[in-house]
Amino acid sequence: MDKDIKLRVKNISKSFPGVKALDNVSFAVKRGTVHAICGENGAGKSTLMKIINGIYKQDSGDILIDEKVVQINNPIQARSLGISMIFQELNYIPELTIEESLFVGNWPKGKYGNIDWKMIRKKTLELLEKEGLDYLPTIKLKDLSISDIQMLEILKAISYNSDVIIMDEPTSAITQKEVEVLFNKINGLKERGVSIIYISHKMDEIFRIADEITVFRDGIVVDSRNKDDYDMETVIAQMVGRKLDNSYPKENVEIGDKILEVNNLTSTGQFEDINFYLKEGEIVGFAGLMGSGRSEVMRALFGLDPYESGEIIINKKKTIIENTQDSIKNGMVMLSEDRRRFGIIPVRTVKENVSLSNLKRFIYGGRLHKDEEIQTVTEYCNKMNVKTPDIETIVEVLSGGNQQKVILAKWMVTNPDILILDEPTRGIDVGAKYEIYKLMVELAKEKKGLIMISSELPELIGMCDRIYVMAKGRIAGELDRENFSQKNIMLYATASSNEKEVEV
Ligand SMILES: Nc1ncnc2c1ncn2[C@@H]1O[C@H](COP(=O)(O)OP(=O)(O)OP(=O)(O)O)[C@@H](O)[C@H]1O
Ligand SMILES: [Mg+2]
Repeated sequence: MDKDIKLRVKNISKSFPGVKALDNVSFAVKRGTVHAICGENGAGKSTLMKIINGIYKQDSGDILIDEKVVQINNPIQARSLGISMIFQELNYIPELTIEESLFVGNWPKGKYGNIDWKMIRKKTLELLEKEGLDYLPTIKLKDLSISDIQMLEILKAISYNSDVIIMDEPTSAITQKEVEVLFNKINGLKERGVSIIYISHKMDEIFRIADEITVFRDGIVVDSRNKDDYDMETVIAQMVGRKLDNSYPKENVEIGDKILEVNNLTSTGQFEDINFYLKEGEIVGFAGLMGSGRSEVMRALFGLDPYESGEIIINKKKTIIENTQDSIKNGMVMLSEDRRRFGIIPVRTVKENVSLSNLKRFIYGGRLHKDEEIQTVTEYCNKMNVKTPDIETIVEVLSGGNQQKVILAKWMVTNPDILILDEPTRGIDVGAKYEIYKLMVELAKEKKGLIMISSELPELIGMCDRIYVMAKGRIAGELDRENFSQKNIMLYATASSNEKEVEV
């Protein structure tokens, strides 16, 4: 018995049809520490966390709290044992209001067992006020940005006063400023003796916040050490089982004609007077602070949101884009930032997700060519390195990173001319990131034009031919490769703003 240990997992195994997600996993989390878990997409991180949170049942092995074996059959039991969790996939219900979402499943009850709405309103207002969030409790989640929704999730999990808080990729959708808020909170929680299990693909975050690190590979614990006994290279090598080439696979590709030109695009309140172009073979980056309007421009361009004025010229033809069908018809596709809302149909299979928007490709001569469909889907899933038992697996059960690769595969099958990628490597492990970069280069070589929005400046600098920098809904500057540097990008990104917050 070790009094320092708050939570221990011992010899946990878990299989799903076709995969052994966890194989005899053991490690221990100390009281008042941050324990980071690293591992490639599909390594088993979320599965273990869901077992600790009572969502899945392990096939074998034990969970110990304060060195005593406990049974955790559902999240409510987990919470009563002092465990709460922030989920990787934001599973919010868009129609719920802020106050409903904070208390759903945990309604405060009045004297007669009725839901105590007064109490809910009061507590919600207190929380919003305390966190300095300027929202009405009655605003619906669908009207919030994903970073706000994620922040609410974080605050909710922290508000339960748990002893163990599991954070599965908490920062994948929040701004740099919010990351600092979260890290301050984590430090406060540690002082109170709370243990935090922290999962992230962002190595710099891990090395800032973790006390200990455990590395998973293919459902096995490879190693577990104090952070001071680790360095980033070692962690990455253990994750992927080989040394990684850290450079970007950018190649010089012949640049052709303009395939996209956007003139004076405006949507009042969102962005104004946006002018840019994209040529065949080009990878063009969009940098800027979160909220600078990058995603909003791309959403309007792709037909997800309306715009007021301006023109879009695709392949030298003036094109009206009123909805996403118009875009797809004109050879333009987009990997959006909020994949659950706009990217996948979680309850359908990998095959259906990849082929549904491409069915026409397989229907000719009056019938659906199923074999061809299966062959194409398989080919693209392999190309994207999607880790799935088979293509008949429901997308929802894939690991977060692999769901994302499915969306990419779906768009590749449409064989588009223009790809808009909004944070394409978010939630993707370091090894697979490299695969996505390589794929981007391959596409550029096929004369496609790529737009990449990213909050990671090294990635933009490593992969792009030109970068537009947005600030406050306008294009504040344009840089070509000779002038690429984090400093130059930040100068433009903050030029018209007094905010000192930067996103790197
Ligand atoms: N409910 C399920 N049914 C079937 N297979 C599942 C289910 N949940 C997870 N898996 C599989 O178990 C493996 C581990 O998935 P898990 O979500 O734990 O990975 P992860 O380490 O969290 O990856 P990521 O970094 O992409 O989030 C994957 O192969 C995944 O497809
Ligand atoms: Mg996961």
